[in-house]
Amino acid sequence: QRLDLDLAAIEKGGFEHFMLKEIFEQPQTIFDSFRGRLDAEQHRITLSGLDAIQDRLLAARRIIIVACGTSWHAGLLAEYLIEELCRINVEVEYASEFRYRNPIVGPEDVIIAVSQSGETADTLVALENAKQQGATIFGVVNVVGSSIARMADAGAYTHAGPEIGVASTKAFTAQVIVLQLFALKLALLKGTISNDRFSKLVEGLHAVPSQVEWILTNELENIKAIAAKYKDASDFLYLGRGYNFPIALEGALKLKEISYIHAEGYPAAEMKHGPIALVDETLPVVFVATKDPYYDKIISNMQEIKARKGRLIAVVSEGDEVGATLAEDVMVVPEVDEIIAPLLSVIPLQLLSYYIGIERGVDVDKPRNLAKSVTVE
Ligand code: G6P
Repeated sequence: QRLDLDLAAIEKGGFEHFMLKEIFEQPQTIFDSFRGRLDAEQHRITLSGLDAIQDRLLAARRIIIVACGTSWHAGLLAEYLIEELCRINVEVEYASEFRYRNPIVGPEDVIIAVSQSGETADTLVALENAKQQGATIFGVVNVVGSSIARMADAGAYTHAGPEIGVASTKAFTAQVIVLQLFALKLALLKGTISNDRFSKLVEGLHAVPSQVEWILTNELENIKAIAAKYKDASDFLYLGRGYNFPIALEGALKLKEISYIHAEGYPAAEMKHGPIALVDETLPVVFVATKDPYYDKIISNMQEIKARKGRLIAVVSEGDEVGATLAEDVMVVPEVDEIIAPLLSVIPLQLLSYYIGIERGVDVDKPRNLAKSVTVE
C-alpha cells in the first residue's frame, strides 16, 4: 500500500491533485497542441486533417458541431469563431439531443465532433447516424485511437496528454486551440480573412503559453484568497458576452462539478430576462469582462448588478481601471485579441473552482456522481 501511495504522488508530479497539475500543465499542453501546426515566423498553419477534407469543407452548406459537457463549450466558441472568420453557417448541438431529434443532415454537411475521450456514447452514436446520412465527420479528439477518432473521416488530435481529473481543464484549452487553428486555416482558404489579421492572430496564439504562465504565476495567491472568501456561497452567477459567453458557461460548470455549489452561466445581457431576480447582497456574480468590442456593454451590465447589491467578481484585462474599480474582487489576465481571450479568461475560473472545491473539502479529482467518460447514455 505504501508503494501505491508513493506512485500516486509521483504521478501527480508534486501537485496535491491531478486537476491542479493539469491546470498548471497548460502552458505546455497549449504549446503541444499547436506544435508543428503553427508557424509564427512564416505566418503559416498546417493542419493535415483539414487538407484531407478541404474540398468538402469549401463546398459545405454548413458545419454542425456535436459534443457534450465541456467539449460542447469549446464547440460553442468554435461556432462564433468559424462564423466570424469563415462566413460559414455553424450549428452547435448537444449530442444527446442531436441523436434523437431526427435532424436534417446530408452529404453537404460537415460535422465537427469535439470529445476529450473519444468514447462518449451519445457523441459516438450521433456521429454514426450523421455518417450514414452522408455527412463528413471531422474529429477534434484527445485520446489517440479512440472510437470517435477511428470513425471520423479526418481530424486533428488535441495533444493535451492524458487527463485524469474528472473536470476537464487542459483538454478544453487544447480543443480551443485546435478549433482556432481550424477556423483560421479555413478562413485563409476561403479568402474570408485578411493576411494582416491572419498574421496577427497567428502571432497572438503563439504568445498564449507564456501568457497562461503569467496568470498562473501572478494570480494564484489572489485567486486562493478569493476562493476562501466566497466558499460558503450557495449560488453563483457567471456572465459574459461574445467569445467570453462560452467561458461564463464553462466557469459555472467547473464550479458545479467540483464544489457542488449551484452555478449558472448566462449571456450577460440575457440576465435581465430572469437571473437578475436572484441578485441580492449574498449572490456572487462573476463577470468575464476582458477588453473587447463589447467592453462598454459589459461594464454597464456590471453596474446593473452593483446597483442591486450583488457581489461583483470580475476577470479583467491587465490595466483595466474601470472594471477593477467596479468589482469587489478581480482576477487579472493579459490583454489580447478577443478571439484569443477565452484561452486566458478560462484559467482564473479553473483555479477559482479548484480552490473553492478544496476549501469545501470536495474530492476534486473524483467529484461525486460524475464520470470522466460517459460511455452509457
Ligand atoms: C463527462 C466529463 C466532462 C466532459 C464530458 C464530455 O461529463 O466529466 O469533463 O466534458 O463528459 O466528454 P468528452 O470525452 O466527449 O469530451
